[in-house]
Amino acid sequence: MSPLLIRPAHSADLKRLVELTLHVELFRNYGMTESSALSLFETALSDPESDVAVVAFAAKEADSGIPGKVLGFAWFLRKGAFGRSAYLRLIAVDPAARGTGAGRKLLEHFEGKYLAPHGIFLLVTHTNDSAQGFYERSGYSRVGEIPDFIQKGMNERIYFKPAAD
Ligand SMILES: CC(C)(COP(=O)(O)OP(=O)(O)OC[C@H]1O[C@@H](n2cnc3c(N)ncnc32)[C@H](O)[C@@H]1OP(=O)(O)O)[C@@H](O)C(=O)NCCC(=O)NCCS
Repeated sequence: MSPLLIRPAHSADLKRLVELTLHVELFRNYGMTESSALSLFETALSDPESDVAVVAFAAKEADSGIPGKVLGFAWFLRKGAFGRSAYLRLIAVDPAARGTGAGRKLLEHFEGKYLAPHGIFLLVTHTNDSAQGFYERSGYSRVGEIPDFIQKGMNERIYFKPAAD
């Protein structure tokens, strides 16, 4: 398999970012549609407080100039938690590529940029066991829960990973 690389997302990735988002049933259940996802990412890509990166296969031949297939993305807000800590707004990996380390690679990339000095926060829906497993495996702890925050009847669990001492 070709090695994976992380690179900043750009406007040529918009269609794929929307596609990856709509693969996630939970996001669709939260009302995400093709047009809302498109406008969300258009805004994110032009927002100086946002940082969106994709994980992709490296091009098959180094100098082919053809970018490799994008397998997933993550979107961070640099100081999105309390104007102090970084906040992981959205992350998704293609269902066909889950469990192969793509999500971990994205998370490690952003932790390298934002874990210091004030840690990283994120929210996970209480029913999303798989994402909670992923974050716990990556050193995040559940520090709270907000009822009915995004959708009535759904709780958002607050996870936090502090900066290393
Ligand atoms: C959550 C998500 C991004 C994880 O990406 P991924 O590429 O599948 O995860 P990785 O393969 O990089 O796994 C990284 C680590 O997490 C662990 N992990 C992944 N899924 C897990 C699960 N369901 N339960 C427990 N651990 C899990 C892996 O075992 C791995 O740990 P290890 O390397 O120590 O064995 C991906 O499953 C996804 O896109 N889910 C749908 C969207 C979503 O729920 N986003 C989060 C919203 S808050």
